[in-house]
Amino acid sequence: MRITNIAAYQQAYKKSVENPEQFWAKIASENFVWDKPFTKILDWNFNDYKVNWFEDGQLNITTNALDRHAANQPNTVALIYEPNEPGDDSVSITYKELLEKVSRFANVLKANGVQKGDRVCIYMPMIPELAIAVLATARIGAIHSVVFGGFSAQSIADRINDSECKVVITTDGAVRGNKKIPMKETVDEALVTCPCVEKVIVASRTHTPVSMIKGRDIWWKEAEQEVSATCPAEIMNAEDPLFILYTSGSTGKPKGVVHTCGGYMVYAAYTFANVFQYNPGDVYFCTADIGWITGHSYLVYGPLLNGATSLMFEGIPTYPDAGRFWDIIARHKVNIFYTAPTAIRSLMGFGDSFLENKDLSTLRVLGSVGEPLNEEAWHWYNDKIGKGNCPIVDTWWQTETAGIMISPLAGITETKPAFATLPLPGVQPILVDENGKEIEGNGVNGNLCIKYPWPSIIRTTWGDHERCKSTYFSTYPGLYFTGDGCMRDEDGYYRITGRVDDVMNISGHRIGTAEVENAINSHTGIVESAVVGYPHDIKGQGIYAYVICEHTPEHPDLLKKDILMTVSKIIGPIAKPDKIQFVSGLPKTRSGKIMRRILRKVAEGDVSNLGDTSTLLDPSVVEEIIEGAL
Ligand code: PRX
Repeated sequence: MRITNIAAYQQAYKKSVENPEQFWAKIASENFVWDKPFTKILDWNFNDYKVNWFEDGQLNITTNALDRHAANQPNTVALIYEPNEPGDDSVSITYKELLEKVSRFANVLKANGVQKGDRVCIYMPMIPELAIAVLATARIGAIHSVVFGGFSAQSIADRINDSECKVVITTDGAVRGNKKIPMKETVDEALVTCPCVEKVIVASRTHTPVSMIKGRDIWWKEAEQEVSATCPAEIMNAEDPLFILYTSGSTGKPKGVVHTCGGYMVYAAYTFANVFQYNPGDVYFCTADIGWITGHSYLVYGPLLNGATSLMFEGIPTYPDAGRFWDIIARHKVNIFYTAPTAIRSLMGFGDSFLENKDLSTLRVLGSVGEPLNEEAWHWYNDKIGKGNCPIVDTWWQTETAGIMISPLAGITETKPAFATLPLPGVQPILVDENGKEIEGNGVNGNLCIKYPWPSIIRTTWGDHERCKSTYFSTYPGLYFTGDGCMRDEDGYYRITGRVDDVMNISGHRIGTAEVENAINSHTGIVESAVVGYPHDIKGQGIYAYVICEHTPEHPDLLKKDILMTVSKIIGPIAKPDKIQFVSGLPKTRSGKIMRRILRKVAEGDVSNLGDTSTLLDPSVVEEIIEGAL
């Protein structure tokens, strides 16, 4: 399934558009182990949304990610774990060992009542047990819902309750940089409002004292003693759910994006092999947390499906200093490095001294994901990290797409700074105007949609198929709408310009403005708020909140801190506003709609052209807002 030159890419792309079914059927049947081969390839309808790939095929993704490699290359390292403390030993786990560990923990899950189709919430730091928990859940046909370790108790509870998880897997604590973070304690707080949870399995990481509730809580290590290290993989239908991953949209609470076994497997494996051009023996390092889609598809599943060696890092890029990534690359002789623009910008800001004496000569491919990679950061990444020798793959995709959609193939597609370049085979992008009319030709801008299903397209939003339909398939009937704006230049290259809806991208994390507003509004004494994103040098976007209080605050700085605390408690520290401006009113139209366009302009510091404000109920609030702008 590996494309090795540009002509082969063009040919594959052509085939994938002319006959997508045949294209994917060949890849799916020739490169994976199916317990029962599929005979139906694709059944789809973007209007009354439904997509089924390889529907009557049967498989288990872990047979493909583990068993076949454990048989053919048992001593190849599957996972390298680099701990938070640079002095602590890293751990290498071979395919044979990983299969055993996953099988053993799968038996622990079974012994604790987890059955096929049950939901399992995983709230853990970046330690091998996290990857093992994910794979063990998949092995027995249960559905994992990984919740990023930085989310609050309230966010965990919302996610657990939405999909009625039966079991939670966590740790006693976590370490990130020089901070110790409670995990079990946060889970305990969440579980006060989660009657569906029957068992909590706790892995030990920090030896922090934790409460262990009789009948509910069990230690990972102890439970493992009682089960065997072999566990046959549950045979799944291709369209059975594999996992749920919650992500933010422009309205309401985060939704549970559902991906299924067969299509996800095929697409994650295919895109990993082609975008990164992984060669046997390469060490691949993805800096994403497994709590996000990048960690699912390109730290765990994509690499393991390809028999690759995947490095996971527990800590942060700036601990003990801003040379940590470069140190890891040098020590583990990393060949392929995949990170986020926010990390690149932040490390660039620390200066080049942290690169001194770091041997980066093993690097062959550099990747970027999560937000636009601006030109300055692109050049620094290219010159200082890649030494001008490593192609940069700027990969555009989303939680909903589950795999990379628009990206260069490393060393094959000619790159261009700040461009995601060309669609992968099987991906049919289309730009539309506000009315949904296709914008043809090159040198154009529009809203990015996809007109044909690829194997790992979102199947539904957990428990609410209508929401899936209305969010992605109703704005432009017949098309999947990404929520992103996009330009196609004269060469037909794609450049993603950012979200066109009320979703912010803060350090590559997706956060809905409505979510932050709801959190702020729940703080005592707050009447209303409006939140917008604004350009931020390091984070890409920062959060700017306009807040109306019941009474003029006596101690505005204290109140700001309290609001930050509330947002942190309700969502998590990643959603804390960077700027809070107290205002007496918000610019609203006569029908009561907030004109966010104006708020965005003020937050950007560009008040020269606010556009038409004549439809505002009270234009004078705009003056006040401009005067008080931060
Ligand atoms: O706006 C796009 C941006 O991140 C959004 C998806 O966020 P999430 O579901 O959290 O997944 C992030 C990791 C895949 C997109 O709608 N985005 C992602 N990659 C890029 C990007 N924007 C520009 N360039 C990218 N390479």
